[in-house]
Amino acid sequence: MSELNKIALKIISNGKGILAADESNGTMTKRLEAVKVNSTPENRLAFRETLFSSESMKDCIGGVILFDETINQDSSSGKSIPNLISDSGAVPGIKVDTGAKDLANSTEEKITEGLDGLRERLKKYYDLGARFAKWRGVYSITEKYPSQLAISSNAHSLARYSALVQESGMVPIVEPEVLMDGNHSADVCLSKTSVVIKKCFEELILHKIDLSGIILKPNMILNGNLSKNKISNEEISLKTLECLKNSVPKEVPGIAFLSGGQSEVEACENLNLINKNNDTNFIMTYSYGRALQQSALKVWSKNIKDTKATQNTFNHRAKMCSLAAQGKWSRELENK
Ligand code: 13P
Repeated sequence: MSELNKIALKIISNGKGILAADESNGTMTKRLEAVKVNSTPENRLAFRETLFSSESMKDCIGGVILFDETINQDSSSGKSIPNLISDSGAVPGIKVDTGAKDLANSTEEKITEGLDGLRERLKKYYDLGARFAKWRGVYSITEKYPSQLAISSNAHSLARYSALVQESGMVPIVEPEVLMDGNHSADVCLSKTSVVIKKCFEELILHKIDLSGIILKPNMILNGNLSKNKISNEEISLKTLECLKNSVPKEVPGIAFLSGGQSEVEACENLNLINKNNDTNFIMTYSYGRALQQSALKVWSKNIKDTKATQNTFNHRAKMCSLAAQGKWSRELENK
C-alpha cells in the first residue's frame, strides 16, 4: 500500500468524511454577512476553531480542507490550526487553487488558476502540516456547455496540479464540479458529468498520477435547480452510481461528494441511498462545506460566545453525514 493510499484511506474510511472549511475570504465574507457577523480574520478563525474543537471531529471527520489564511492561524490555546486538527485524529488539507477565472475564447465558462509557483507553495503547506490538497474545476450546463475547450483545459490543470501534489507527498482531491444551476434534466447532468469525469481521468493517466492516492470529489447527479421535473432520491442515487461506474477507474479508493447547494438533509438522504445501493468497491462519503456548516453558522451568529450550542449543532450534522456515509442514516435519527 503506498503512503498516499494510506493517507487517502485515513481520510475517508470508517464512516469518516471531509469538512470543507476552505471558503476564500470573499466567499466567507458573503456567508458571514448573510448572518450579520463582521468578516474579520478573528471572526473567521473563531467560527472555524469552534468547529475544529468539536467532539465529532474524532469519529466523523477524517480531513479538513483549510484556506491559506486559516492554515497560518493559531487557535486560542496557542496551538496552530493544523495541529489542532491533527490532534483530533483528522488530516489537515489545503485549498491550493487560486480561483476560477473567465476562460479565454469561451468567456462564459471558467478555468481554474493556481499552477504558477505551486510546487513552492506545496512545500510550505507540507511543512505547516497539510497532507492533502484540493483544486476545484467548475463547469456549467447549458445546451452548448461545457465546451470541449472547458472540459479539456480544466482536466489538464487538474492533472498538472495532481502531479505536483503527489510529488510533494500529499493526496490530491480532484474536484470537477458540474454546477446544478439551470433547467436541465438529471439525464443531461448524467451524460455531461460523465464526459467531464472521463476526460479528467484521461489526463490524470497521461500525467502518470497514482490513482490509488487520490480522492475524487464530484457532484451528485441532480436535476438543474430551475427544472420543473421531479426526481426521487432513489433515482438520484442510482444515476450518480451509474455515472461513477462508467467514468471512474477502479484503482481510485474513494469518492467524497460536494454538497453543491443541496440542503443539509437532502445531502444526507442522497448520500445514504448512494451507500445503500453501492455495488462498487469505491468508498462513498462526503466532502461538504455548506451541508456541514450552515445550521452551525446560524446558531453561532446568534451568540458567538456560545461555543457549546454551535458545537452541538455541528456534532449532529457531522453524525448524520457519517451515518449516511455508512448507509445507516434515517429521517427518524435526523429529527431526534
Ligand atoms: P459545498 O459542499 O458547499 O458545495 O462545498 C464543497 C466545496 O469544497 C466546494 O469546492
